[in-house]
Amino acid sequence: MSNQVVRGDLSSSSIIRDIFQMHMNDVVTIFDLTYGNGTFWNDLDIPMFDPSLDFRNTGLASRSYDCVVFDPPFTANGPSSNSHNARYGADRSQNGSPQNIHEVRALLASGLIEAMRISSKFVLLKTQDVIESGKLHSSTGLAFTLFKEFDFRVMDYGLCGLRCST
Ligand SMILES: C[S@@+](CC[C@H](N)C(=O)[O-])C[C@H]1O[C@@H](n2cnc3c(N)ncnc32)[C@H](O)[C@@H]1O
Repeated sequence: MSNQVVRGDLSSSSIIRDIFQMHMNDVVTIFDLTYGNGTFWNDLDIPMFDPSLDFRNTGLASRSYDCVVFDPPFTANGPSSNSHNARYGADRSQNGSPQNIHEVRALLASGLIEAMRISSKFVLLKTQDVIESGKLHSSTGLAFTLFKEFDFRVMDYGLCGLRCST
């Protein structure tokens, strides 16, 4: 997807920039449902966002933005002092954060359905499969199912391979 990979520049913002350049030249209006610290937007103009909205039920009009960006918590860790978990909404001690993998999946499903409702063209989803207690919980599988159910075609997705042997 991104030639940034061969250059070793794996920042979220450079990958987001590549995705927009590659697929979304005609996108004018963007709403980020999970703006967080805004790290997606270091290389692009800052989109519309409202940190007070619950992404499961935003009250935004249907099909009101060309592209809706959605990066929900993909795991439930903590409570901990791990600032990474807190920053990405995965720390269980944060108000409203998912308490377990089932709540993570429920958040993904309800937020993705809301993202598809608001979008007139594209939904850009960032998620990640996780293994908990030896069991695979496939967020990507859930997303594929929901995109199909709501008549969205998956036009691209990224996979990153990590060598297991040294
Ligand atoms: C993975 S982070 C997003 C990071 C962001 N893309 C960035 O560049 O910084 C997920 C975000 O979703 C937020 N979140 C979790 N549940 C939410 C909900 N129901 N409604 C709105 N935001 C929520 C978390 O607080 C966190 O900021």
